[in-house]
Amino acid sequence: MEKIIGIENDSPRADAVEKVTGRAKYAAEHRVDNIAYGVFVCSTIAKGTVLSIEEGPARAAEGVLDIISYKNCPTTPGYEPLLTDGSKNPKQWWGLKVLHDNIVRFYGQPVALVVADSLENANAAAQLLSIQYQAEAFETDFNTLRKDATKLKPSGNYSRGKANAIEEALVKVEGEYTIPVEVHSPMELQATIAVWEGDDKLTVYDKTQGPKSMQGTLARLFAIPDKNVRVIVNYVGGAFGNALRGWHNVPAACIAAKKLKRPVKVVLTRPQMFNLTGYRPQSWQEIKIGAAPDGKFTSIVHNAISMTARYEDFREGIVNASRFLYACDNVQTSYRLLPLDVSVPTWMRGPGEATGCFALESSIDDLAYQLKMDPVAIRLKNFPEVNPESKLPWSSNYLKDCYEKGKELIGWSNRPQTPGSKKEEGMLVGYGMANGVFGASRGQASVRAILQENGTLILQSAVSDMGPGTTTAMIKIAAENLQWPVDRIKFTLGDSDLPPGPTQGGSTTTSTLGTAVHLVCEALKKSLQELAQLHLEEFKNVEVKNIEIKNVSIVSGGINVAVAELMKKAQKPSIEITKDSQGTSAQELKHATNSFSCHFVKVHVHPKTMEIKIKEVVTTADAGKIISENTARSQMLGGVVGGIGMALKEELTFDHSTGQIINASFAGYRVPLHTDIPKTTVWFVNKPDPIINPIGAKGLGEIALIGLAAAISNAIYNATGKRVRDLPITPKKLGFKGK
Ligand code: MOS
Repeated sequence: MEKIIGIENDSPRADAVEKVTGRAKYAAEHRVDNIAYGVFVCSTIAKGTVLSIEEGPARAAEGVLDIISYKNCPTTPGYEPLLTDGSKNPKQWWGLKVLHDNIVRFYGQPVALVVADSLENANAAAQLLSIQYQAEAFETDFNTLRKDATKLKPSGNYSRGKANAIEEALVKVEGEYTIPVEVHSPMELQATIAVWEGDDKLTVYDKTQGPKSMQGTLARLFAIPDKNVRVIVNYVGGAFGNALRGWHNVPAACIAAKKLKRPVKVVLTRPQMFNLTGYRPQSWQEIKIGAAPDGKFTSIVHNAISMTARYEDFREGIVNASRFLYACDNVQTSYRLLPLDVSVPTWMRGPGEATGCFALESSIDDLAYQLKMDPVAIRLKNFPEVNPESKLPWSSNYLKDCYEKGKELIGWSNRPQTPGSKKEEGMLVGYGMANGVFGASRGQASVRAILQENGTLILQSAVSDMGPGTTTAMIKIAAENLQWPVDRIKFTLGDSDLPPGPTQGGSTTTSTLGTAVHLVCEALKKSLQELAQLHLEEFKNVEVKNIEIKNVSIVSGGINVAVAELMKKAQKPSIEITKDSQGTSAQELKHATNSFSCHFVKVHVHPKTMEIKIKEVVTTADAGKIISENTARSQMLGGVVGGIGMALKEELTFDHSTGQIINASFAGYRVPLHTDIPKTTVWFVNKPDPIINPIGAKGLGEIALIGLAAAISNAIYNATGKRVRDLPITPKKLGFKGK
């Protein structure tokens, strides 16, 4: 891998040693005395009811403590749809109430939890349950059923300008795009350990992207005060969105532990991960772009359908980027849902935009060829000076810088003008590019700073770090603000008892939490300046604004006093300050706030076997100021890996005769391997956004992936002249007839 451009000596990931030495403790790894193990028994029909469960042999099996199902699941306040007065329960559990009733909504739905004194005993007993079902007709086949408009639920239309502009366009492209179900597939499996103290005090070790939100969720489930629930998540082994909400392991473990008056651990299996923790919904899109002969867009029409569960709607912004990523007066979009007998989808790696930009950015490529224009030139031609949907000015938009640098770094001038016309080492060569975009914003957060007498600064907030490097980034913000060495700053997270922090999602953590870190550092600086004036003879007559903090010392002109000495003189063994930062500011509301990315890809395609080899990726982004270069770069690399998976590999497959997932394992669900990942160069504009927050960072988790699948598809088209609009792109879809 190339080193990041312009970065020489960035500090390493703060938790690197903990992680690579295995000292980092993930949810399932916490040791709790007297723990019991719960395993799910899952339905073998896709729709219907459980008629009976024969439990005799399982209950008699060694070590079995209980079998929890609709037959004996204890009353749980959050599972009740109605309050005692008959009104709707506003604090209901969000989503499927696992083990609550005998209704089967999808194949593989947990219908019983077997709890035993060991995992082996629980697994063995689970095999002994005999379940009778009443099966009903079900529907899982998205590609067939989406054609029946009566089955679709409207979810939102948008229109600006002339509705028939597409018919009048002088130049036009159109295409249908389909993306299969893709699953987050993190290393760490969903896991919950539930420990009750009495009837109303709960401690949970859980894999979650949001310890505070999980605390609230569990407090509502059991109708106990938030403060009686403690959620601990020290490390998260990847999530990509699948730990944004609590899945079935969470209530099952908590309900079982309460019933048994004993700690219970429930860890999903890998096959269960594929079926029970959400996924990117299967989608169909139709896009039409009209343009003038000079390449100016005159019309964009973008319609999409995506799957959801019958029992819960999941929507995402599939068509949204088409409304604002390019200047265009006439835009129509529609989005509909197809409910099926499947488990519910959820946000996954660039949710919405990742799907939409595959269609939009492939279509623009088509249009560029039709007009014999360069793909970058056509995008420049349609660059939006303001956000064309909201008409608001961008808080910052440096996509043009990305175009320029990306072209240079990938060697864009080597791109063949005519698809399929250039060979290298016997392989067809192609270059492609595409954009990504995602919202940038900030929410509320609270951070506590504790300065110890020895000069160690501890920052604390109840967030989790699922891998992007939040710990490292927060330390860097504080280090820069206070001119403090990074190795004397610690960031503590992963405990809901800490000051409330945001759920990690939607590329907002750095912006949201970083603002609170910034504010608490400003407050600490002020406090140190004031203490210096008050307690240090040398600073009595120095104005506060002339007192600097540097390298754990108080400095002004030639005067330099260690912070430790100040704290001793002030008789303060520690200084503790907590600061809240508010969400979206009034100034932010007057702007369109987005992060942008532009990916450049070079591919080789074998002219006979159509084997695809990605040779090089240059990924560029305008994510505002880059706080932590190493971890930001890693996120971009992760996006490239995910994008390669989306473009060439990932596809969850259903057997529509049973409703069962066929390839719910890493043997059957293909993800990129090391050998699939090429030389990758990451480049950031690295210019601060002046509006969103005081630290200038926008966010980059989602834009790292969004647009990549289209960039790869566009490069393959450039190499072969073949356009594949159905992911993943395979040799077969490129016309290879062999096996
Ligand atoms: Mo992200 S898909 O918001 O975890």
